[in-house]
Amino acid sequence: METLKLDISRVASFVPQSEIDAMKAEVEASVSTLHKGDGAGNDFLGWLSLPSSISEAEFAEIETAAAAMRSLADYVVVVGIGGSYLGARAVIDGLQSSFAAMQPVKGRPTMIFAGQNIGEDYTAELLEFLDDKSFGVVVISKSGTTTEPAIAFRLLKEMVERKFGKAEAKDRIIAVTDKAKGALRTLADREGYKTFVIPDNVGGRFSVLTPVGLIPIAIAGYDIRKLVAGAKDMEAATAPEVPFDKNLSCIYAAVRNALYRKGKAIEILVNYQPKLHYFTEWWKQLYGESEGKDGKGIFPAGVDFTTDLHSMGQWIQEGVRNIFETVVSVRTPARKVVIPTDADNLDSLNFLAGKRVDEVNKMAELGTLIAHTDGGVPNIRVEVPELNEYYLGQLIYFFEKACGISGYVLGVNPFNQPGVEAYKKNMFALLEKPGYEEATKAIKARLK
Ligand code: PA5
Repeated sequence: METLKLDISRVASFVPQSEIDAMKAEVEASVSTLHKGDGAGNDFLGWLSLPSSISEAEFAEIETAAAAMRSLADYVVVVGIGGSYLGARAVIDGLQSSFAAMQPVKGRPTMIFAGQNIGEDYTAELLEFLDDKSFGVVVISKSGTTTEPAIAFRLLKEMVERKFGKAEAKDRIIAVTDKAKGALRTLADREGYKTFVIPDNVGGRFSVLTPVGLIPIAIAGYDIRKLVAGAKDMEAATAPEVPFDKNLSCIYAAVRNALYRKGKAIEILVNYQPKLHYFTEWWKQLYGESEGKDGKGIFPAGVDFTTDLHSMGQWIQEGVRNIFETVVSVRTPARKVVIPTDADNLDSLNFLAGKRVDEVNKMAELGTLIAHTDGGVPNIRVEVPELNEYYLGQLIYFFEKACGISGYVLGVNPFNQPGVEAYKKNMFALLEKPGYEEATKAIKARLK
């Protein structure tokens, strides 16, 4: 197996190599802080060694529960939000057919995601869709009290019990939550659901390699051992003893911070494969929640190319020069489609006849790289040999490790998210939640 390739050569005209090399000491200090566990947020470092510590028994328990759910349900609703949802969705979408939802396959449940919004139409349409289906639910919440998934689960639980009976609900519902506390833990224990634990020392956005990600991924039919094997190889490739100039996560953390110090405050994660859309969403949460605090942080944005070249391309080419791009490029697609010759050639595309669609995609990528760097946009490129479990595992750990390092270089606690509470406090005050009486009075006075 290969290792991902990181190409920073298209950054050189924006930040000289000497400035990147000068970050070595800061990056190495951050690596040491992470591994010694003496920095801010050090009670949330369990993710660092997850790939190398998952046991055979843990794999087997997840696979057994997944097989049972697969034998029972044609559709499985994964209920969760933020870190309790994006990792699983990123991997499943990255691996499954883009048309999986339209073409259900017997024995492979179609995965549906809920509890990540409070749109009433979405909720109503979901319940209506499931009404005549054989379905199961995986409810994921570390705190067990997050409003969005709690509302969705309340509705889905009621529906499972009504359709299949209370006894069968036990087989159709899996809960992933804290080992001891929270409303979901209390409910799951009372109802006798199969449960999996989110370790105390792993925060939501770093939890894809715990049952939070592994249970839905295994139910969807993907090989969680290969995913973890990829992550484990990247854990070794980015270990503290691997020197700075060979350590992909260190280099990436150094380059993005060097760019930030030059005023490049927005990083755009770019893909050329629509299957990676949710990988970008996962990455946005990872970096956004980890770094955006204390008035600091690179704003993580994302685009799907070539689609968004026809919408965001103009801005990226000629807008404010405060951006850089990180391209995740898949070297070899799994499938092959050759462009045919057309006798009439009305579209004048016969010059492409005989070429694979991916050859066109790769030239679009190269043409864009040259255009954007010419236009003042530094470019980092991560090459992934193929889109499969193993390389997604490598990508996940590579970005997680770089995020931890980068957060410390930036001088923030990468493992908390205090800012997320502000909207919740206001929402509960507006909804007159018991215990929020003072906040309710205050917010109502402001709205008069
Ligand atoms: O990264 C995080 O910590 C958050 O995105 C959480 O995962 C998200 O808010 C969901 O929280 P919970 O799992 O407690 O429902």
